[in-house]
Amino acid sequence: MLRLNASSLSRAFGQQLLDEGAHLKPVFEQQLLPVISARLLDPSLQRSNSGSIGLGSALSLFLASHRRAPKLIAEVGTYIGNSAAAMGCGAGVAQQAVQLITCDMNPCTQLPFKGLNLPEGSKAQVVQGTSTNMFEFLTSKGAKIDMLHIDGRLMKNDLKLLSQLLNPDTLIALDDCEGDEKGHMNLDLLRRTGLIQNYVYVEPFPRELFHRWGLETRSVTGFLLPQISINFTRQ
Ligand SMILES: C[S@@+](CC[C@H](N)C(=O)[O-])C[C@H]1O[C@@H](n2cnc3c(N)ncnc32)[C@H](O)[C@@H]1O
Repeated sequence: MLRLNASSLSRAFGQQLLDEGAHLKPVFEQQLLPVISARLLDPSLQRSNSGSIGLGSALSLFLASHRRAPKLIAEVGTYIGNSAAAMGCGAGVAQQAVQLITCDMNPCTQLPFKGLNLPEGSKAQVVQGTSTNMFEFLTSKGAKIDMLHIDGRLMKNDLKLLSQLLNPDTLIALDDCEGDEKGHMNLDLLRRTGLIQNYVYVEPFPRELFHRWGLETRSVTGFLLPQISINFTRQ
């Protein structure tokens, strides 16, 4: 009777985040945007062989993180720290301390939360190394990740470690989900290992949804939503 796919879920999830997050517009525009714009304009932070997330992806991460309210966020691919800032800022609105761990095997910012006004006790840790190094560190601490952002290429040894780090309600975001870019390669790897059997894939929010916030932009951030986080309601 009713079929839902990655595209229809994207419209539903995106519309809900953008409409129900309308009150967050001042935080996004006045706190987050100046921070991420300044980093994009700072030549000392850039490398010629890498890029940072765009506006639509930053907004998607900001709103999804606000909705999930993670205590612990892990990220593969720090670079100039704009995705980390977007997630930290979104999570911080709930006034609960947010802890972020992010890794990069190439030179990257050491201060992804710099310039943000986050709740007391919030902190960001940068692992200058591979995703495997970071996941090994997290497993050694017995950590469980509430939100995972993958903006690098997953490595073979990551998958076994991830099986110990994910909770049934961990929200996963994947950058570069278009064409045969790395987002779809990471998605394929996660699928083949059986790690996301209880997840549904939500493709990046369509361009026209961002008009609801008066923005002409697009996103390449896909989400993996835990099935247990999807509800049918009467309202
Ligand atoms: C597109 S950039 C990340 C942009 C960043 N999220 C931002 O918003 O500024 C991707 C980064 O991931 C790093 N990377 C890729 N695969 C990785 C891995 N498996 N472990 C650690 N770093 C990785 C690269 O060195 C690169 O700097």
